[in-house]
Amino acid sequence: MGVTFTANTLLRSEIPGLKLLSRGKVRDVYDLNERLLIVATDRISAFDCVLPTPIPGKGALLNALSAFWFRKTGDVVPNHLITTDFAEILRALPPDVRLDPELYDRRLLLARKARRVDAECIVRGCLAGSGWKEYCEKGTLCGERLPQGLQEASPLPRPVFTPSTKAASGHDENISRERLSELAGADIAREIERLSLMLYDFASRHAQERGLILADTKFEFGFINDRLCVIDEMLTPDSSRFWDQSAFKPGASPANFDKQFVRDWLDQSAWDKRPPAPELPPAVVDGTARRYREAFRRLTR
Ligand SMILES: Nc1ncnc2c1ncn2[C@@H]1O[C@H](COP(=O)(O)OP(=O)(O)O)[C@@H](O)[C@H]1O
Ligand SMILES: [Mg+2]
Repeated sequence: MGVTFTANTLLRSEIPGLKLLSRGKVRDVYDLNERLLIVATDRISAFDCVLPTPIPGKGALLNALSAFWFRKTGDVVPNHLITTDFAEILRALPPDVRLDPELYDRRLLLARKARRVDAECIVRGCLAGSGWKEYCEKGTLCGERLPQGLQEASPLPRPVFTPSTKAASGHDENISRERLSELAGADIAREIERLSLMLYDFASRHAQERGLILADTKFEFGFINDRLCVIDEMLTPDSSRFWDQSAFKPGASPANFDKQFVRDWLDQSAWDKRPPAPELPPAVVDGTARRYREAFRRLTR
């Protein structure tokens, strides 16, 4: 793919001398007062559960792809990125902190700390996942009626903002735009919807020129110096569905470059979707890594 990512897999970071703020499903976050050190590990989650098997190279790939998008969209919507440069990050850390480049090079992002808006800002351009499920059950998406007769993976008449709660642990819950207004405040809700739709529009055009459909994606926002900024990650195969445009047909399972491959394997396994999740077989690990690399290759070329 033209970029080689670190050969050493990392499931869990340990950085003596830094204060661990949280371990998310994929990222370990360290507190540097005004800033955060975000470590993208090779963990993968599905059905709200972190799997025991790492996807080698995934953390570095997500980090590079997020940084690519942060740089590309930063003049339209501000974001939390300071740098992903290893040497520069080392210089920003207390002098006694040691980081093995074999493990940490390419998976670090130095960010401005934000006051997070506790919502997942999802935009859907096609009907998939929980959006498809709601449509099948009620004929609606995020509470709003859709045309009849849509199929799984059908493009929507226009992209729709479908927020969900950001649960501290466990299941995120889809909520209406009205509920988001109550939770976040009407002005903030309106603004994160506007920014999310704008970013989706920009990214889906970019993807389309490279043979990919951005079926849906999720953003997170936070306030940095009273300005709304994109935080966390952006437009990666973890947070988005990327489909191959060439063979696309509504109603049929689209060829994907994202996590669907893992979900499909888990669906046909005997797992009951309660922790602990089973180990992934090598073929599923390789197939996932290959899909993520293909998304990266196409989007950044
Ligand atoms: N700039 C930031 N300021 C504050 N919190 C952030 C920032 N960037 C990311 N985060 C938070 O750090 C965590 C990153 O871990 P991740 O594995 O992505 O979490 P999750 O399991 O929620 O997907 C998330 O809780 C995210 O909201
Ligand atoms: Mg996240």
